[in-house]
Amino acid sequence: MRANTISLFLLAALLLLPSCSGRKVSTVGSDPSVEARVEKLLSQMTLAEKIGQMNQISAGGAVSDYAEALRKGQIGSVLNEVDPVKINEFQRICVEESRLGIPLLVARDVIHGFHTVFPIPIGLAATFDTQLVEEGARVAAVEATAQGVRWTFSPMLDIARDPRWGRIAEGSGEDTWLDSRMAEAMVYGYQGRVSDSTSMAACIKHFVGYGAAEGGRDYNSTFLTERQLRNIYLPPFEAAVKAGAHTLMTSFNDNDGVPSTGNSFVLKDVLRDEWGFDGLVVTDWNSMGEMVSHGFGSDRKDVAAKAVGAGVDMDMMTFGFISHLEELVSSGAVKRSAIDNAVRNILRIKILLGLFEHPYVDVEAARRVQYAPEHLDAARRSAEESAILLKNDGVLPLNASGVRRILVTGPLADAPHDQLGTWVFDGEKSHTVTPLAALRERFPGAVDFVPGLAYSRQQRERFDDVVAAARRADVILAFVGEEAILSGEAHCLSDLNLIGSQSALLEALHSTGKPVVVTVMAGRPLTVERDLPNCDAMLYAFHPGTMGGPALSNLIFGDAVPSGKTPITFLRTVGQVPMYYNHNMTGRPYRGEKLLPYIELEAGQTSLGNTSYYLDSGASPLFPFGYGLSYTTFEYSDIRLGRDSYGVSDSVEVSFTLANTGRYAGTEVVQVYVRDLVGSVTRPVKELKHFERVSLEPGERRSLSVSIPVSDLAFYGLDGVKKVEPGEFLLWVAGDSASGNPLSFKVR
Ligand code: NOJ
Repeated sequence: MRANTISLFLLAALLLLPSCSGRKVSTVGSDPSVEARVEKLLSQMTLAEKIGQMNQISAGGAVSDYAEALRKGQIGSVLNEVDPVKINEFQRICVEESRLGIPLLVARDVIHGFHTVFPIPIGLAATFDTQLVEEGARVAAVEATAQGVRWTFSPMLDIARDPRWGRIAEGSGEDTWLDSRMAEAMVYGYQGRVSDSTSMAACIKHFVGYGAAEGGRDYNSTFLTERQLRNIYLPPFEAAVKAGAHTLMTSFNDNDGVPSTGNSFVLKDVLRDEWGFDGLVVTDWNSMGEMVSHGFGSDRKDVAAKAVGAGVDMDMMTFGFISHLEELVSSGAVKRSAIDNAVRNILRIKILLGLFEHPYVDVEAARRVQYAPEHLDAARRSAEESAILLKNDGVLPLNASGVRRILVTGPLADAPHDQLGTWVFDGEKSHTVTPLAALRERFPGAVDFVPGLAYSRQQRERFDDVVAAARRADVILAFVGEEAILSGEAHCLSDLNLIGSQSALLEALHSTGKPVVVTVMAGRPLTVERDLPNCDAMLYAFHPGTMGGPALSNLIFGDAVPSGKTPITFLRTVGQVPMYYNHNMTGRPYRGEKLLPYIELEAGQTSLGNTSYYLDSGASPLFPFGYGLSYTTFEYSDIRLGRDSYGVSDSVEVSFTLANTGRYAGTEVVQVYVRDLVGSVTRPVKELKHFERVSLEPGERRSLSVSIPVSDLAFYGLDGVKKVEPGEFLLWVAGDSASGNPLSFKVR
């Protein structure tokens, strides 16, 4: 079909069929007219056609490779094809040449942007800005759907407390509340508040517990109790389901011996029965087949039966459904009703996305929308807000007019592919603006670039060239960290220090006595304690995406003021893993005992305090959760609770004054934490229950109030029922998880 025919078709479809636009995103399956269409179609389908819908394949080849299978209705979804011309042809074959004309669901891992790449998800979480994150997901959806991709495998909602795990880059970090809010924002962004042809089905993943991989090694087993699952790992998924997420992906891991793809407790009891999810459940890539490797099934046929039985609707790349389901149905091992339910879930999503009405895209229009100026602008703002200022001895922001020579150095200063981060298939490095490019544009002729290290893991003994250039410069801007390939799926590390000779490079730079501003670009929170003394300021940018360069240049020269906060605890050393702020109260909390170098041992001494800490690295991390500096300073005062006692259906009202006490306009991420002092089971030392960004001019004071529904304090206690347990609580309003003085209140 030619492009202009397609645009005419599209226009006609939009005008004539308003049923596919203007639909509010809500829990799927609630619309009777959609259900009627599902049932009608289902009643016309053969068993083979139904099973075809449950089959998802990766389609990197020529259209002719798949034409026959598409025509026969043997493929319900493809992933990894983004060429709009090919996608249109796939759709044409399905719609015009297959018996029932059911369009294809085209999927892609659009994880933090399509062509315009945003910061990696852990960086997006550092913004604590749900509105901006929603905007970013919308941009991704607009770009991807223009090319025919209507399903993304995002957001990843795996709580992760182990930075050795490479996929920590893809989630929102360690906190359930923050992860839940980011989950909602991304679902709204991808799917749109109102669904139309730019809506892309979100896929919440990986269900569930995948981020707790033992030892931080990807794909490893997890051993989460039901209480941990319910209190910590499941709530972000539940929040996303409530926000209307269309699809969900099972995870690779086994939890307590049961692989997720065959786990009917989480897939049926919790997801379907408790939460009422009517969307589509897809396996992860071959995760059904891998149940054979787990030793959870004898062969592909056996695991196909187990997966359908557990509640899986679609098989990604095992080919187990397409090869064995017919036989399993005839032998009675799989019920026809299980197949029908799975197909209902798939058809429902195709209908909700409006695919039947407008399966084709306008190839010319698709090109125009990529890297649109407003998309690049949103990516830049996201990169600015995601950077966390970890240290500033007063050197930042630099005064642009006072700088004559700048040395730019480090392996990440001009690494256009690597600053995009993991899971970037479509963002091109030719469109990426690196810090070096941005600084050269801003200060023509004033920038010397001596990388020092060509790549992060390079080993070097001497840095004479860099040091010589540093001596000529007024200021040194060093960009260090890790390349994109060092984080992400299967890319785990057991050492979290800056790799190669990067720390030595920073030491050499510092020895010149010139101001050293370090920016770290990485997929995880690295252990940078040893590097802090060698810099005057440190910005932690994660992998900042397409517009990382301009964003960092704006931050360094004060056109933007840092406001990012750590979405995860930053450790001193990898040996502290796992250390997270919301750990349970222990029987022997740390009481400030001395650390190793300062301990004077007496002969025969047997005890060093008997509290919970490491002799060599203590009990505190390098930077706590929620931490980040600004160029200005904020002061909290007059923090008051509305009352000192509340009923379970009340809201806790807390008021306070926030003042900008510094010289720059800035944005503070206000955080509210709560501790439940006594529970039927031990409770976390504190838990985030609210956050919001507040922007203030220098000297401005603002009275603010926050309302926390008491129901948000509910948890699964000893009886396994979610409820608020009456008693005494502490509440903090602060700029990070380790600051502030608590107020107390009671719940009756
Ligand atoms: C495997 C990954 O675990 C998952 O996150 C991704 O969406 C699929 N592959 C598809 O690429």
